Amino acid sequence: MSIGGSIFKAVLHLLRTSSRMAHAIDQDCLRHIDLYPELYSGRDWRELDRVYTYLKRTLNANQYWRYGYSRIRVVSQEVFERLSQWTRIEGKTYCELGCGIYHPYGICTTMYLNGAKMALAWDLNAAPEQRAAEALHDQLSNCSVSPKDWNWADISDAEWNRRIQSFNITALASGELAAGVHGLPVRHVIADITEPPEGIVGTIDLLSSKLVLEHFMNMEVAAREMFNLMSSGGIAYHHIDLRDHRAYPGQNPDSSPYTYWTFLTEKSYFEKTSKFGGRSNRLRAHEYRRAFENVGFRVLEWDVQRGSLPQDLRPNLLETFSSMADSELAITDIYCVLCKP
Ligand SMILES: C[S@@+](CC[C@H](N)C(=O)[O-])C[C@H]1O[C@@H](n2cnc3c(N)ncnc32)[C@H](O)[C@@H]1O
Repeated sequence: MSIGGSIFKAVLHLLRTSSRMAHAIDQDCLRHIDLYPELYSGRDWRELDRVYTYLKRTLNANQYWRYGYSRIRVVSQEVFERLSQWTRIEGKTYCELGCGIYHPYGICTTMYLNGAKMALAWDLNAAPEQRAAEALHDQLSNCSVSPKDWNWADISDAEWNRRIQSFNITALASGELAAGVHGLPVRHVIADITEPPEGIVGTIDLLSSKLVLEHFMNMEVAAREMFNLMSSGGIAYHHIDLRDHRAYPGQNPDSSPYTYWTFLTEKSYFEKTSKFGGRSNRLRAHEYRRAFENVGFRVLEWDVQRGSLPQDLRPNLLETFSSMADSELAITDIYCVLCKP
């Protein structure tokens, strides 16, 4: 590569470390394809296939790829196993809170295939419908071809296939999301947790969230809302990420100035970050637990994962965090199961 090419690549790499710039670059790439279709449409199919195969292979190997079914399968299995320790999925109403904007129907569809009576995918933000439809199509194809990888509830082959075939697979393949799920008991709710659509409060038997609760700026209110949404006896599973999101591997080069705890030392953290840049509430594990118990949840499981605190952290901690023990500060993840009595 020429010197100019290397410099361009380095600048691009640097810009991509900011989530806002990365988004702008992605949008620009897509615009490029739209503006110059002849660059792609005039090509020999062999050439395009090389690009396609390379991209497919690269994406499949990327654990952060949100449109792919591999991550959906891993997360769905985690949710299924955690909830199944305490209750049955069959015949229940399930909701994934904070399903994200890429493949919103992924996890709720898996729960529906595994016997849920009704499954909701809930998020504040809408999804790009065409891409979400295609992602669901790919997932259902894999569920059909490899049922052993997905059918954890031991649903009969006939019922498994009936459920898959109740989706309009042809519509999904052509990017028509609404037509693809028409008439099915799977629903995409686009609303703030504090503004539940009519008829949902008190009906959710099973709730789960992944990497979501750390983004709720008022956890007391959110815990109350989750409690109200659930039916009596309902079970919830949450994976909460307590790390400074700017320190994720892969999002920053090795020279990242951030650690998982940097935000506990920054007075201006909230001014410096945006809600689109992974801003989180900085609550620590005992504060989540208190918020859940205060509204009436019973804690059935409380597993935590810890990291190694940086040596120079303690003298730099903000006052709010300096009274907390190392064992508390070191917690990077919570995996909890709650019950609404
Ligand atoms: C980090 S993403 C995680 C998405 C997905 N669970 C995943 O693992 O890829 C957090 C999601 O929570 C949603 N969210 C944040 N606040 C919310 C609120 N008040 N009500 C509903 N959804 C919310 C965001 O829109 C976002 O899609």
